[in-house]
Amino acid sequence: MGGFNMKVCALAACLLLAGHVSGYSMEDLCAQWSGSGYVGDPADCHGWGYCQGQKLVSWNKCKAGLVFNAQTATCGFENSTICTTNAVATCSAAKSPMYVAVPSDCNQYGYCFGNGSIGYGNCGAGGVYAANNNTCVWGPTCPQDTICRFMKNDIFVGDPNNCGSYLLCNNGYGTPGQCATGKYFNPGNGMCQGTNPCTGDSANSGSNPGTTYTVGQSVAGACTGGEAIDPATTFFMPDKQTCYGYFYCTTAAGNGIWNACPTGTHFDSDTQKCVSPASVVCTHNRCANVNSPFMAVSGESCKQYEICSNSATAYCPSSNPYYDEVHNICTVDPPDYPICQ
Ligand SMILES: *[C@@H]1O[C@H](CO)[C@@H](O)[C@H](O)[C@H]1NC(C)=O
Ligand SMILES: *[C@@H]1O[C@H](CO)[C@@H](O)[C@H](O)[C@H]1NC(C)=O
Ligand SMILES: *[C@@H]1O[C@H](CO)[C@@H](O)[C@H](O)[C@H]1NC(C)=O
Repeated sequence: MGGFNMKVCALAACLLLAGHVSGYSMEDLCAQWSGSGYVGDPADCHGWGYCQGQKLVSWNKCKAGLVFNAQTATCGFENSTICTTNAVATCSAAKSPMYVAVPSDCNQYGYCFGNGSIGYGNCGAGGVYAANNNTCVWGPTCPQDTICRFMKNDIFVGDPNNCGSYLLCNNGYGTPGQCATGKYFNPGNGMCQGTNPCTGDSANSGSNPGTTYTVGQSVAGACTGGEAIDPATTFFMPDKQTCYGYFYCTTAAGNGIWNACPTGTHFDSDTQKCVSPASVVCTHNRCANVNSPFMAVSGESCKQYEICSNSATAYCPSSNPYYDEVHNICTVDPPDYPICQ
């Protein structure tokens, strides 16, 4: 055990160290990763999440008696899978002796006797426990305290404590790295780039309005075929270019005056109102005029969605195949919105 003398104690008082919650959420993990796949829940070793497009799109827990192994992205038996968030839970199920990290205190380490009990040792003043090679090393940084503890092997992720730098995740450990001088790591694509991604705004789907009309523009022929809904005497017509633009009309023969629905809404021709995008099936660019990172693709029963920042089509994991754009998650059952019909 390195230069430190490891002594195992079995003090009842040590048991109070159980149950530490890391400062990261699954959303934080996803935000640092350009890839798609499973991550562990930093608050609960039984839980997992699914990241896509830097967003958490789905989450759940392993079945009873199973613990999520983030490095292999599988649910494993409690008696052979380390609970990353709770050393006591690991030892209570472990069938053979082993050392474990103590999430709440890196100066300590735990020892599972293999009979359900845990003992604790101490790395001494200035020492921290490195679980990857079961040694005490000089602190103050705790080797297991990175987001890689909850992420799979062999991926590069952004370092949440050092924007522009990255971590190479391996076996639950993050090896810090820097891009070349003057370059910054972009967690959105996993590459080093010349501009600093830590200061700019994130891509906004409202940036592609998709129309040449301007507010107040008078357009001939835009009102043809329209009529007022009683008791109204004037009416509104879709602009046939966007999901959110409409014309204000006084007569079917007159010009239409263009306007846009409030941000976050689309125009519904049937009711002549601006409504939730999910409640109207529009086949133009559904990402325009909304502040959503993803939107369901119309006509696909919510089995496809568009990544608004790059217009790419994406799919939910097969275990939760439907995209619920109102809650921005992947679901097991198809959502009951008109856009999903
Ligand atoms: C671990 O638990 C599973 C499920 O309870 C059991 O099938 C398996 O035999 C156990 N393994 C050991 C080493 O006890
Ligand atoms: C487990 O083993 C350790 C060391 O032999 C012992 O001190 C402890 O009391 C045992 N715990 C149980 C629950 O048997
Ligand atoms: C053990 O791991 C720690 C943290 O990853 C590292 O700093 C240390 O050099 C390693 N020690 C040995 C002996 O490999």
